Amino acid sequence: MTLSANYFREQSVSLQPKLVAMRRELHQYPELSNEEYETTARIRTWLEEACVRLLDLRLPTGVLAEVKGARPGPTILLRADIDALPVAEQTGLPFASKVPGKMHACGHDFHTAAIIGAAELLQARADELHGTVRLLFQPAEELAVGARAVIEAGALEGVSAVFGMHNNPELPVGTVGIRTGPMTASVDRFDISVQGKGGHAGVPEAAVDPVVISSAIVTALQTLVSRNASPHHSAVVSVCKLQAGAAWNIIPDTGVLEGTVRTFQPEARARIPDQMRRIVEGVAEGYGAEAYLKWTAMIPAVNNDARMTGIIQAAAETQGLRIVEAVPTMGGEDFSLYQERVPGCFIWMGTGGTEQWHHPRFTLNEEALAVSASLFAVTAVQALRSIG
Ligand code: NI
Repeated sequence: MTLSANYFREQSVSLQPKLVAMRRELHQYPELSNEEYETTARIRTWLEEACVRLLDLRLPTGVLAEVKGARPGPTILLRADIDALPVAEQTGLPFASKVPGKMHACGHDFHTAAIIGAAELLQARADELHGTVRLLFQPAEELAVGARAVIEAGALEGVSAVFGMHNNPELPVGTVGIRTGPMTASVDRFDISVQGKGGHAGVPEAAVDPVVISSAIVTALQTLVSRNASPHHSAVVSVCKLQAGAAWNIIPDTGVLEGTVRTFQPEARARIPDQMRRIVEGVAEGYGAEAYLKWTAMIPAVNNDARMTGIIQAAAETQGLRIVEAVPTMGGEDFSLYQERVPGCFIWMGTGGTEQWHHPRFTLNEEALAVSASLFAVTAVQALRSIG
């Protein structure tokens, strides 16, 4: 290839101070999901300054852009997410959030600056590109609704492959976590309502107690993982909200349970709702009550395509990065919705922080900005050549 991997690495080092400045500006002015108006304006300005062509995303927030190569070829997409969290920052950094109660505690400011860097690197060598690199700055990842909106707006049309990353505080800078197959879990939600019969605490025989029934349902749901899921699969069932009653001496009428199910395997994911419904309704019936399950399917598991994983791994090798087998997380990522339509790969980028995602003292090592910009520029070049 004419574009040497060394070229991008060297250029990314010169770009580093600018990427740090962008990331810190984003960090000081975090915006929550689907409210990323100023973030969107900043990204647009920075891309325009780098002569990257903006496309019309037709959404209130988020940015779509492209680097069009001089030579014909396929279109691939690099994706960053842009939203922050309702977390009050406690890092004490000089560039800490200036917005009370809001923080880039998941490092999406880092993803955004890094992919702008990749766009700038690619734009400078657009003459040599065989195809088009589309850049997507996706809103509302934290609510798991942004990717769906972006897809409905047409951002994936004509795209042959998609690449993305999440910073990983457990890996040092210069290390990437890569694997074929599942990286993040599917995320589904359940809401259960138990209809009993209220009454006097001292006269339980006249009541149907939803507190006892709700407790029995929580316990019975544990068998979804231990007895219904294959031991070769991974699943988590967490009941995170349990509410019933308002006084110490009154048996209430109703109970409410809410929670989430996480899996890596589509087969495991498909089995759970019916089994959960049987347990919920069966347990309630055993106590003479009724219970209802509302199941909300949200997002599938991030599942890396073998060929795309090979492309990004080869790119990482040219950059001299240390490559480790990625450890999947039971957290969710709506990047998975792109992979339902287009083959792709999502990696962990080592950013060597002290705290986990969403923590008020979450930090990352900004040296990973240049590393990421260069890696994604090289990945894009190699993907265009390999697919085209
Ligand atoms: Ni995140």
